[in-house]
Amino acid sequence: AAYDAGEHDSFMRKEMLEQPSAAERVLRGRLDERFGTGHLGGLDMDARETRAIKRVKILGCGSAYYVGQMGASLVEELARIPADAEAASEFRYRNPVIEPDTLYVAVSQSGETIDTLLAVQEIRRKGGRVIGLVNVVGSAIARECDGGIYLHAGPEVAVASTKALTNMFLGFALLALQLGRVRDLSIADGKRLIAGLSRLPEQIQEILDGEEALAALATDLAGAESLFFVGRVRGFPVAREGAQKFKEISYRHAEAYQTSELKHGPLALISPEVPTIAIVPADELTDRNVAALHEIAARGGPLVVLTHADVDLGEVPCRRIDVPRSERELDPILLTIPLQLLAFHAAQVLGHDIDKPRNLAKSVTVE
Ligand code: G6P
Repeated sequence: AAYDAGEHDSFMRKEMLEQPSAAERVLRGRLDERFGTGHLGGLDMDARETRAIKRVKILGCGSAYYVGQMGASLVEELARIPADAEAASEFRYRNPVIEPDTLYVAVSQSGETIDTLLAVQEIRRKGGRVIGLVNVVGSAIARECDGGIYLHAGPEVAVASTKALTNMFLGFALLALQLGRVRDLSIADGKRLIAGLSRLPEQIQEILDGEEALAALATDLAGAESLFFVGRVRGFPVAREGAQKFKEISYRHAEAYQTSELKHGPLALISPEVPTIAIVPADELTDRNVAALHEIAARGGPLVVLTHADVDLGEVPCRRIDVPRSERELDPILLTIPLQLLAFHAAQVLGHDIDKPRNLAKSVTVE
């Protein structure tokens, strides 16, 4: 075949390992170090138009939806524009109000997902402006949008998205940076983020180099019938994406929750049989998150904690994974990488077809 998994046992593994180089490609030529901003040739919006944007609405399906939530946080934090993500599959059915001063963003690896494409058409029919964050050049969604950002991840074959997802996050970071720098993001913060972005490929590599320890942990997790993935604010979409990957390829019941919502329901299900994977970055919520870990541990729930080396977890019994630390706004993507490896190795231990999980298609092109 012209494109095959080569020496790798699966496309997913090949594509995970390609992430550092894929990340370099999406950033290449798009960082303006002098002004601390993003430089996106496909955006075709001048500063005045950019300043007129009152809201950003992101649409995607599956993993693209979850990374869209990460993107919404980036836009809101860096550009201080209200932003949210919605499942593109639901959007057109609720007769959405299309606002002229909203920037709509469609995010899709394949560019062919019918639900995302129909959302784009609904917006355009009502006169809204949509840009695309798309991997496949010349795909249907890319053609229907008013410009956008190509992700340059290269072909992605495995159903579970890895390198395209990482590049989606980086695409959102570039967009947020560019929007932010014509608004209130300072040049110093712009430069801080550019330095952070430039370090990411190396940091992703560092995580991939730790595969063996994650594989050992995944072997234990694969035995659980049901798992929780929890995170807060920036960490919540990370938890959602982690649960998505785990259920897609390991077929275990994996549910994502906001850590803060545990006490409002799911805590009833915590037991020695139900592991929780908790996202606990070093940020303004670390203490609250650590308190929640104690609640879980007190009920005998096994804990895996994705965190940063400088976070003090106290005495809480857990298996700890220290993830390299970036700028706090960019940390979500680094926290996502170990979750890919956990899902991958759990599925491998269970003997599943990693690239073609049952009942799923790489791109869903019929309604
Ligand atoms: C399918 C796949 C998911 C993917 C989603 C969006 O449902 O199973 O893994 O995230 O489509 O695909 P897209 O090509 O639009 O990113």
